[in-house]
Amino acid sequence: MDLSIKIRNKILPNPVGVASGTFGYGEEYAPLTDLSALGAIYTKAVTVEPRPGNPLPRLVETTAGMINSIGLANVGTKRFLSEKIPFLNTLSCPVILNVAGSLEEDYAEVIRRVDDQEAIWGYEVNISCPNVKKGGLAFGTDPHQVERLTSSLRQLTEKPLIMKLTPNVTDITAIAKAAEQGGADALACINTVMGMSVDIHKKKPSIPAVTGGLSGPAIKPVGIAAVYRVSKAVSIPVIGLGGIMNGDDAVEYLLSGASAIQIGTANFVDPDTSSKVLAGIKAYMEGSGFSKISDFHGYF
Ligand SMILES: Cc1cc2nc3c(=O)[nH]c(=O)nc-3n(C[C@H](O)[C@H](O)[C@H](O)COP(=O)(O)O)c2cc1C
Repeated sequence: MDLSIKIRNKILPNPVGVASGTFGYGEEYAPLTDLSALGAIYTKAVTVEPRPGNPLPRLVETTAGMINSIGLANVGTKRFLSEKIPFLNTLSCPVILNVAGSLEEDYAEVIRRVDDQEAIWGYEVNISCPNVKKGGLAFGTDPHQVERLTSSLRQLTEKPLIMKLTPNVTDITAIAKAAEQGGADALACINTVMGMSVDIHKKKPSIPAVTGGLSGPAIKPVGIAAVYRVSKAVSIPVIGLGGIMNGDDAVEYLLSGASAIQIGTANFVDPDTSSKVLAGIKAYMEGSGFSKISDFHGYF
């Protein structure tokens, strides 16, 4: 069975990665799951400067999911290099740095500062965060800006460049095509869906940021539809995520056009979800007579 996926000039050993913001920088999960078995670790977003993020509370549970408004809290590039890279250097699985910023130049600066680090396999560019006032979603909803940002980052690195798309747009395929046009090697679909919940006893929104990003099983059909539509619109690999809790969920994404998948919110329920999802995919492949991941791609 061949579980590998090629992105640009590099190989992911298997299709099951762990999603940005739900797995820290890997070290936090080392006692809880076998990191060497992961297809990829997508790190928490890194910005040029450290960010404290939004006021607490930043998470609230909802029916079949949760809403977060973390606001890209992170250690910044300098501390990422001094505190996080030494551990990431010890890992055998691919580490994909999730990059965020407010201005085009911020994204570029992160990549310039870290690109010579061997521990970094490639980049996932977060143009889809709904929880920051500037940047993030502002880039990800405008095809022209997406193409411009992608092509300017493309000049800076030979490593795989994955653009992570938001579902909070009218036509996600227009954004996907713009990223492909700009030189992206793959697309990740989807980031969280804009959501809101109200505490009826306090008679106010559940989180101070009022709205946030909905994740978990509630958004799985949104993610699958996005992957299906995007994979028909572009010819680069699509990495699917949103609400994957088990092997069957992952197979739904793969059959719908994903070449790989990521586990997000499920890591909070069971930190070892990824190994169970991989086992589920293998069992399904055996049962269906599939011998490689590309047998799934574009199945219908
Ligand atoms: C607490 C939390 C923090 C997140 N932080 C990031 C982030 O820093 N960068 C990013 O691109 N996506 C971030 N995301 C989005 C996830 O990577 C993923 O796209 C989304 O949660 C949908 O997948 P899921 O339903 O499996 O969680 C975050 C999600 C959660 C729940």
